[in-house]
Amino acid sequence: MTTTQPSARHSTQRRSSAARTTKTPVIAFLGTGRMGGPMAANLARSGFELRVWNRTTGRATALAEHGAFVADKPAQAVQGAGIVITMLADGPATERAATGPDGFLDRSPGLIWVQMGTIGAKWSARLAVIAARSGVTYVDAPVSGSEGPAQAGQLIILASGPDRVQDVLAPVFGALGRATVWLGPAGDGTKAKLVLNSWLVDLVEATAEVLSFAGRLGLDPAAMVELLQATPLGSPYAVQKAGSMLAGDFTPAFALKHAVKDAELAVQAAYNLGTRLPLTEALLPRWRHTALQHADDDLSVVYNAA
Ligand SMILES: NC(=O)c1ccc[n+]([C@@H]2O[C@H](COP(=O)([O-])OP(=O)(O)OC[C@H]3O[C@@H](n4cnc5c(N)ncnc54)[C@H](OP(=O)(O)O)[C@@H]3O)[C@@H](O)[C@H]2O)c1
Repeated sequence: MTTTQPSARHSTQRRSSAARTTKTPVIAFLGTGRMGGPMAANLARSGFELRVWNRTTGRATALAEHGAFVADKPAQAVQGAGIVITMLADGPATERAATGPDGFLDRSPGLIWVQMGTIGAKWSARLAVIAARSGVTYVDAPVSGSEGPAQAGQLIILASGPDRVQDVLAPVFGALGRATVWLGPAGDGTKAKLVLNSWLVDLVEATAEVLSFAGRLGLDPAAMVELLQATPLGSPYAVQKAGSMLAGDFTPAFALKHAVKDAELAVQAAYNLGTRLPLTEALLPRWRHTALQHADDDLSVVYNAA
């Protein structure tokens, strides 16, 4: 495992137009949602020539103000690009952008495809196979960090793939995050993401449950959060989500629908290995039920059902 630290980011940001016109690859960015929009904007701000596509074009047009070309189709977005980044909701949407009508995959042999959504181990392996068939280098690089870190260029990139592309991708990842961790062959990034998000959903569920429990005990839940924060028990993420829960502010940073997807992906991956994630399994029925009404709210909305 190798880690690139922030200094790489600062040294590569806001590259000069001279550098851009020589060797910097053009980047096609597919999926400009809550995460992808700010990530693409950071690439443009860092001087990369950018071509973007989003299913709902209106969510991509703001990037034209950063100089990006807004394409109608994935295939059009990758024209002339050396790197394509996908930041789409899930495996099926990502595969469709690659191989569906107007997909990008067969248009650009020699392309480097950096898959950054959270799509699960089976989907990542499947995309690696279809990429190889088309002569495209596949890099599996989901991210840790939510909307705020995406806007601030402070994500952690869980990168995996062939060593030979690490140098060319270093400035790209440097513009998106504060650190890049190279974990091994393509697919290991997604495996690491499953582990992190299994932890994340368990932590959010535990936070929701203990706040509710505190209230039922007649304690002030806010005082309990302060107490947790004063001890090693209170993780910054849990404390932040506790604040949202108590304020009833479920403005999405990480939509519940994606958290349910990620919990399901982790449970399924464990099952495929002949093991179990009992904590994650236990929260899923209630989270799925809450998502029927609150799919697009922040996952902290599960407090309402705790
Ligand atoms: N938000 C977070 O905190 C966070 C953190 C780390 C990783 N992630 C992961 O990053 C990915 C994107 O998350 P996000 O928060 O940016 O979600 P989002 O705002 O819901 O964006 C999802 C993107 O996928 C596109 N999409 C969805 N279904 C599609 C389909 N069937 N065909 C084509 N495009 C489709 C959306 O297009 P439209 O605009 O047309 O709907 C949008 O571009 C997900 O895998 C998520 O789990 C999220």
